[in-house]
Amino acid sequence: MSALTATRWVRWPEAHTLADGTESLPAGAARIGYGADYNPEQWPEEVWADDMRLMREAGVNIVSVGIFSWALLQPTIDSWDFGWLDRAIDLLHANGIAVDLATATASPPPWLTELHPEVLPVNRLGETIWPGGRQQWRPTSPVFRRYALALVEKMAMRYADHPALSMWHISNELGCHNVYDYSDDAAGAFRDWLQARYGSLVELNRAWGTAFWSQNYTTWHQILPPRLAATHPNPTQQLDFARFSSDALKDYLIAEREILRQVTPEVPITTNFMVMGETRGMDYADWAAEVDVVSNDHYLLVADPQAFEELSFSANLTGQIAGRAPWFLMEHSTSAVNWQPVNQAKTPGQLRRDSLTHLAHGADAICFFQWRQSLAGAEKFHSAMLPHAGEDSTVFRNVAGFGRELAALAEVAGSRTQQARIGILFDWDSWWASELDSHPTELLRYKAEAMAWYTAALANGLQADIVPARSVLAGHGLAGYDLVIAPMLYLVPQALADALTDYARTGGHLVVGVFSGIADADDHIHPGGYPGAFRELLGVRAEEFGGLLAGQTVRLTGELPAGSTGSLLTHDVTVQPDVEVLARFDDGPFPGVPAITSRMLPSLAGAAGRASFVATVLDPAALAALVGRFAAQAGIQSLLPEEVHGTVQLAVRQGDTQDYLFYINHSARAVTVALRPADGRLSALDLGGSTLAADTLTLPATGVAVLGRARTDL
Ligand code: GLA
Repeated sequence: MSALTATRWVRWPEAHTLADGTESLPAGAARIGYGADYNPEQWPEEVWADDMRLMREAGVNIVSVGIFSWALLQPTIDSWDFGWLDRAIDLLHANGIAVDLATATASPPPWLTELHPEVLPVNRLGETIWPGGRQQWRPTSPVFRRYALALVEKMAMRYADHPALSMWHISNELGCHNVYDYSDDAAGAFRDWLQARYGSLVELNRAWGTAFWSQNYTTWHQILPPRLAATHPNPTQQLDFARFSSDALKDYLIAEREILRQVTPEVPITTNFMVMGETRGMDYADWAAEVDVVSNDHYLLVADPQAFEELSFSANLTGQIAGRAPWFLMEHSTSAVNWQPVNQAKTPGQLRRDSLTHLAHGADAICFFQWRQSLAGAEKFHSAMLPHAGEDSTVFRNVAGFGRELAALAEVAGSRTQQARIGILFDWDSWWASELDSHPTELLRYKAEAMAWYTAALANGLQADIVPARSVLAGHGLAGYDLVIAPMLYLVPQALADALTDYARTGGHLVVGVFSGIADADDHIHPGGYPGAFRELLGVRAEEFGGLLAGQTVRLTGELPAGSTGSLLTHDVTVQPDVEVLARFDDGPFPGVPAITSRMLPSLAGAAGRASFVATVLDPAALAALVGRFAAQAGIQSLLPEEVHGTVQLAVRQGDTQDYLFYINHSARAVTVALRPADGRLSALDLGGSTLAADTLTLPATGVAVLGRARTDL
């Protein structure tokens, strides 16, 4: 189990007699969490009874309560009103619904920001972020912390012994809107962080390269967050500010957690991450060890042609961060969201498909934002489990139907996701550093590169794991992977270069993507030619970058599909004599130069390793062909027949006695999967409209089938 692993799970309430005289499930019974954010404070109490009836009809067994209720719980600086929350939690308990109780600190009340405007965040132009929305607080404000922690303590003391309390939900989506704060509080905390990192100004000046542009600092006080500057701010200052900002919020998370742990040590703690989506400010691979249960929020981006692949990527990465142990899907949507430029209802079957895709990747709870769709406020057009239209609606029927289905899948709970044989490295430092300004191109995007490789694996019918580089640095990341891909791993500390080199020299196949191995941990270039950190291993050397304009492509020739192209960036690669050239640039800045290389390595441990380099951004078909080639070379075979590659994803969870195979049709047409004897004896666990015959599985459009197979390794 990885050191990143969260070690506990929801503490389900003990069995008790419910309001209608029936018995609730005992605490130890297997179940998958199902529910939503529940905001009873938005509704008259008469509505609550209806909420309970419909929650029970839908199979809801857990809800998150109190997330944005600070202003009602503490209406003035010295008055408290917990009555309504007591009643809501009691009612939930009487209906057998567990409570993931928020600390309620997500958004400060107006009296607090009126009394203490110094808690408000400041943007890089020095402008105040005013109240009126939410999350208007500085992560480093000691004043905010004082008030927020007082509330956390009040909540912990009041509900410590409530039998419905199953998990603490710290704040909400920490950093969603306020991760980057450039205020004076942030400046002071940034200086402290830098002192702890560098110890001396001499060391800081070295790391930041301040000999450049007359930036040498002579007192700590001169150092500022990277506020609006006349031109490109110092890159290492920007990178350190990104690292600091993630750490500052993590520190805040820990401050709330410590209070909760003191008062209720037996209650697990979570906070909802936003792995991928539109956020990148929080290094969740670093945060995961601080919570008991890893939770994630995920929203499909409708304008993204690869929205399904992005969902699958996010779910997989969340599972890896959780050490492949179960994690909690805290929020996704039943249908449309309200915050994208254009929002769309989910197509039939999509709620089920998206939910089961998360489940396939290890989620043991499937929850939504929110239970009852609001009539007022900024999210009134956001879908919910119970829509404006009421219970007589397609959404509610889908929600209730899916709740029954999840209850039937209870045995899947607790199983772990199967490790894939392909690992794709993912690293927040490289994400932040590679996208800084003043680079060879502004057009390369870290997430797009990582996603492209993941999509290429799926296009070959293969599952890949998204492996945090942090777990490689911690020494337990690469065992079991036969092919490891490093997309745009721009920032490579020596220890990471060593770990990846060892991996390739002891029989693994390492593939290094474009714009990788360029800089060290301080964002200083690895000198001697690109890609510096991997130059020796790969047996390649480049002296220049050839950036390509938006829409411009270069032709590639070699062992690739006809018409293959590269885009965005090229390198002028030369190779050592023992390096095989798989493809060359045909035109563009470096015609005739190697574009894809591969080198067999003399092995120190018997099996021959391999190190390959891709010196441009390949078009999707070329990338899929290359991944197919490398996978075959590493002996990795798809468990799916070729005709459904790129249409059906197969993800596997491993229980004690059974494997659970999730066949996910992410296309809009029905498909038939030919099953093979090698797949073992499959039994239907949840077909949801699919047909399982002796040697075929037919999935409707967006259909998912969950099949069981006895573990052969027992
Ligand atoms: C986030 C928040 C919720 C809500 C949803 C809407 O995930 O945590 O409070 O705003 O977005 O998509």
